Amino acid sequence: MNEKSLTQKSLQNFLGKDDKKIHYLDIKKEQNRRKKSIVDVPKPFLKWVGGKRQLILQMNDYFPKEFNKYIEPFVGGGAIFFYLLPETAILIDVNKELINSFNIIKNNVSELIKSLKNHKNEKDYYYEVRSKDRNPKEYNKLSDVTKASRTIYLNRCCFNGLYRVNSKGQFNVPFGKYKSPKFCDEKNLNAVHKALKNVKLINNSFEICLDFAEKDDFIYFDPPYVPISRSANFTSYTKGNFSKEDQIRLFNVYKNLDERGCKVMLSNSYSDFILGLYKDYQINILYAKRAINSDGSKRGKIKELLITNSF
Ligand SMILES: C[S@@+](CC[C@H](N)C(=O)[O-])C[C@H]1O[C@@H](n2cnc3c(N)ncnc32)[C@H](O)[C@@H]1O
Repeated sequence: MNEKSLTQKSLQNFLGKDDKKIHYLDIKKEQNRRKKSIVDVPKPFLKWVGGKRQLILQMNDYFPKEFNKYIEPFVGGGAIFFYLLPETAILIDVNKELINSFNIIKNNVSELIKSLKNHKNEKDYYYEVRSKDRNPKEYNKLSDVTKASRTIYLNRCCFNGLYRVNSKGQFNVPFGKYKSPKFCDEKNLNAVHKALKNVKLINNSFEICLDFAEKDDFIYFDPPYVPISRSANFTSYTKGNFSKEDQIRLFNVYKNLDERGCKVMLSNSYSDFILGLYKDYQINILYAKRAINSDGSKRGKIKELLITNSF
């Protein structure tokens, strides 16, 4: 296999089966970006609602050509981070289990892989592992490696690969009945480990980015979206929801970063509320496949917003 076909294969692997139209130019860019390793391209190790993998080719034109640090305050599965693979980055999320998993992959990937290999794709076993967070006192006694291993295992084996908790913060997705879910993707975990070398991970709310952002840094915000319909209202990444007041607080952070000379980009749903808030910025429209909808007939394409300041 030559260099080009290797990269094309790994890029397609990263983007998923739906994005076959990869142009030669994208591959060239990709090769430049990943000088060190063209084979083991890291990709998100968790399936995450609102994951941006399917939109990357549309977003590609809007990323700044140059920037200093990369900061992602709602990192989730980290699709954009893994695509850009910046030299230095700060990844933030309010979800404790998510940031713990990133931290363990960064600092203790071999123990994590050992622990993941012990799991089994069996219904009773799945519910036993899932029930561990029902008793907070007992749960807190588990090691951080065990907690990360549990998060990754449940995410891979649960129905639809969701991360969803109830109001008590308990993971509540049923068993997925997959034939052979890949809950220990050793090659990818090692690639993610390398990609996290110069990355600072922070478990906190998005405003913490104001403590780190400087002129010419690139900040990408992918918050829980303003709901456009009842069925589209998925904001249960953590206990507690992301309200309109949170969206306004986020807008004030965006404005502050713009005034500092940062390069700022934000995704959100196509809604009058967001269009009104960000009216003074550049508004771009992307087309996404509707992901979460119990009614199969409503899974068409929907408009999304990608808002940038001038860079
Ligand atoms: C739409 S998802 C991000 C998806 C991500 N871009 C991806 O590609 O997987 C939104 C994320 O925001 C996080 N979140 C919710 N409220 C937050 C807050 N106040 N501060 C920081 N992160 C928050 C959630 O835990 C979730 O991971």
